[in-house]
Amino acid sequence: MTEKNIVVLGGTGKTGRRVVEALRERGAPVRAASRSGEVRFDWNDEGTWDAALKGADAAYIVDMQDKPGDWDAEARIRALSKLSVDLGVRRLVLLQARVTGPVGGKDLTAGESAVQESGAEWTVLRPNWFFQNFDEGVLLDAVRAGELRLPAGDGLEPFVDAGDVAEVATAALLDEGHAGQVYELSGPRAFGLADAALEISRATGREILYVPVSHRDYVDELVSYDVPADYALFVADLVAQIRDNLNAAPTDTVERVLGRPARDFTDFVRDAAARGVWAV
Ligand SMILES: NC(=O)c1ccc[n+]([C@@H]2O[C@H](COP(=O)([O-])OP(=O)(O)OC[C@H]3O[C@@H](n4cnc5c(N)ncnc54)[C@H](OP(=O)(O)O)[C@@H]3O)[C@@H](O)[C@H]2O)c1
Repeated sequence: MTEKNIVVLGGTGKTGRRVVEALRERGAPVRAASRSGEVRFDWNDEGTWDAALKGADAAYIVDMQDKPGDWDAEARIRALSKLSVDLGVRRLVLLQARVTGPVGGKDLTAGESAVQESGAEWTVLRPNWFFQNFDEGVLLDAVRAGELRLPAGDGLEPFVDAGDVAEVATAALLDEGHAGQVYELSGPRAFGLADAALEISRATGREILYVPVSHRDYVDELVSYDVPADYALFVADLVAQIRDNLNAAPTDTVERVLGRPARDFTDFVRDAAARGVWAV
């Protein structure tokens, strides 16, 4: 393949947006697809899939694995992979997550076999929790409010920069040598939520506290904010993976693929604080 047309599903999200930028920097024709993207793509509306995938040589796939209920990631990714191959998409790069065992009763790696058995060249990315949860994701409001209440105990997690994940995805989409690989992607060091809160406190000059809560209390708290019970359990189980140190060993995959070290959390915190994202 020389010049590739690429479709980025989830192209407005934390990694997808950065994959689109990185591909454009490398001069690759790319379109961002999601419910609000340049091209409309909705996992829940198969009528949108054809137009999103047609004409693409490669696709970056961000699924909705964090949706409990009747969402079946494996079946959806399998259907999408089949359609992709039928339409001539030759390379699939699938974003999953680095988890151990079921989360909220779901196997979050279930979609992997779907791309692996699709007949396309495939690469699977399994990152740890992103730094960007603190400045653009689920933890942003809590950081701004000065209190991170989570059932993470004093567990450790080698959080990773979404930009590094996006650069690895870009390499897998454009370059050779990544087909058939499952990449576990972490940052350079594991740390706990208390360490994260302390680093953000130092960088912002505001006191951000980490308050460990029990799994049970956390679920009850979310439900009291009208979060559906199955989703609350799912999120609590996901955080419990940190508490139990299930994915705490850093990997060297980012450095092996990109030829430079993975970004450190301190660097991310300095930048985010300078942008004023945590100012209140
Ligand atoms: N956040 C983390 O720390 C982390 C760590 C490891 C792995 N992951 C994995 O990364 C994936 C994305 O999670 P994220 O939290 O980082 O979210 P995100 O990518 O920042 O946002 C979700 C993306 O998916 C799109 N989307 C949402 N619902 C959709 C639908 N029905 N149809 C089509 N597109 C839809 C959104 O765009 P529109 O709203 O425009 O549709 C957005 O582009 C998940 O599979 C998660 O397991 C996340």
